[in-house]
Amino acid sequence: MAIRTIRTEGDEILKKKSKPVEVVDDKIRELIKDMFDTMHKYEGVGLAAVQVGILKQIIVIDLEDEGQKYVLINPEIISQTGEQVVEEGCLSFPNKFAKIKRPTNIKVKALNEKGEKIEISAKDLLAQAIAHEIDHLNGEVFIDKIIPGTLEIVK
Ligand code: NI
Repeated sequence: MAIRTIRTEGDEILKKKSKPVEVVDDKIRELIKDMFDTMHKYEGVGLAAVQVGILKQIIVIDLEDEGQKYVLINPEIISQTGEQVVEEGCLSFPNKFAKIKRPTNIKVKALNEKGEKIEISAKDLLAQAIAHEIDHLNGEVFIDKIIPGTLEIVK
């Protein structure tokens, strides 16, 4: 188990685009394990590799209520529909929360931690989480697209 340092607001790496993973090997699986450990320690529900300083297209998600963990490597959005206004936060912006518009449904294809092709159809909270994390891979952070006037700073 290894907890990695989470990059936070102001760190320029958060604005960079991540590169596709070429081979899903043990080194990648080790990183994924560390990402889950780090995300759980800080009580997040999703984390992108860039948030621990690695510019690779890897996302982990663990929505406690649903009890299912997701690993998405090189995710691509196939389709997204609907719109939900949701409350959102991010481990890279630990004190900030705001409302944002996200798709209600999202369909993505990706590789899993074994390097197998997978497809996920997600809705509601899972759709929100996947959209948020894919934004990270594109160098986009939620705070730049929030609904104006909804920012809450928690001390
Ligand atoms: Ni985030």
